[in-house]
Amino acid sequence: MLNGKRILLIISGGIAAYKTLELIRRLGERGVGVRTILTKSGAQFVTPLSVAALSGERAYQDLFSLTDESEMGHIRLSREADLVVVAPATANIMAKAAAGIADDLATTALLATDKPVLMAPAMNLQMWAHEATQRNATRLVDDGVLMVGPEAGDLACGEIGSGRMAEPATILARISELLAPAGTPLAGRRALITSGPTREPIDPVRYISNHSSGKQGHAVAGALAALGAAATLVTGPSAEADPAGVEVVRVETARQMLDACQAALPVDIAVCAAAVADWRIAAPASGKMKKDGAGPPELSFVENPDILATIAGLAEQRPALVVGFAAETENVVENALAKCRRKGCDWLVANDVSSQSGTFGGEHNTVHLIEGDASEAWPKLSKQAVAERLGRRIADHFAG
Ligand SMILES: Cc1cc2nc3c(=O)[nH]c(=O)nc-3n(C[C@H](O)[C@H](O)[C@H](O)COP(=O)(O)O)c2cc1C
Repeated sequence: MLNGKRILLIISGGIAAYKTLELIRRLGERGVGVRTILTKSGAQFVTPLSVAALSGERAYQDLFSLTDESEMGHIRLSREADLVVVAPATANIMAKAAAGIADDLATTALLATDKPVLMAPAMNLQMWAHEATQRNATRLVDDGVLMVGPEAGDLACGEIGSGRMAEPATILARISELLAPAGTPLAGRRALITSGPTREPIDPVRYISNHSSGKQGHAVAGALAALGAAATLVTGPSAEADPAGVEVVRVETARQMLDACQAALPVDIAVCAAAVADWRIAAPASGKMKKDGAGPPELSFVENPDILATIAGLAEQRPALVVGFAAETENVVENALAKCRRKGCDWLVANDVSSQSGTFGGEHNTVHLIEGDASEAWPKLSKQAVAERLGRRIADHFAG
């Protein structure tokens, strides 16, 4: 878990600096304290104000600012962090760091630090391919600097090739891996968890929903984060507290949930525990429907997207492990085995939600874990214990 860790984030002057704002937000959501240094060129791309607003602390810019040197000198800045991250890392800052040049706050902090340094290079493909940059990158790696990316793809300059900064989610996963305490077997893995019910509007004041509380999905997200995964929880309306160290995205409808899940990809693990409404009202009224004496309104429904089947059926970004949850009221195992096959998921956690089970909103769950054609009955456990046991199974799967 990253909660309580501290990162010194150096933002140098590349067009990808805007993506670093997203990285700061995601780190903050995981409880990471982020201090930033903005190079002079970096400040041409993102403002100190946006950086400060997202990190909750001023962006440090000037090596010779008396205030900074008395309150927070470059040595302290670089030493008080658990990890120094340079994102984006320009060709220029890489060259300076490779040569040991320290002519501004960023490069001085890089030279003064006694902590691991992770760089996310970002530049035009010719700049990246240039012998000088390649030489500098090799020198930096030889000096112990860690690299994430660059990736191949469309570049901001309009060309296509290698040089694009790794996505914030990729950098985050690498950071999690580097800062993972012992006993975090899912460090470096990304997980997407859905939780809670969805709400499908009838009109602006009414909706159709279900009894899902979000307890189980939230517990799974917390358990995966505790095992080191960079976890994103996409949740419908739920009274549950945000699990520690998890990025939480709140949605209402099934379609919003699908969009949020797709935005969170790529991930290694997807656990779909949300109780997504199968149907929505075909044409919700734009104004509040009135009781006008003409009898109750007739509602017609259309099918919602199937989020589990969509994620399990992805051609390109299918997570390595897709786990569904099935709420059944009868023939729990038979229905779950069929559902697992139909949806194309790898595992399915089947739970009995019949009214006598007390599962919906309750603290306990009695589940079967379906894997292919095999089914394993778990004893009655608290939802927290189900989440932890599932988390350990997932960790074993990836260790395996
Ligand atoms: C519009 C624009 C975009 C730029 N994008 C990049 C980039 O993506 N990567 C890079 O290495 N340099 C880029 N540069 C050049 C750097 O800003 C320049 O080398 C600068 O001196 C870097 O300073 P710094 O490393 O101290 O931040 C860009 C320059 C401009 C004007």
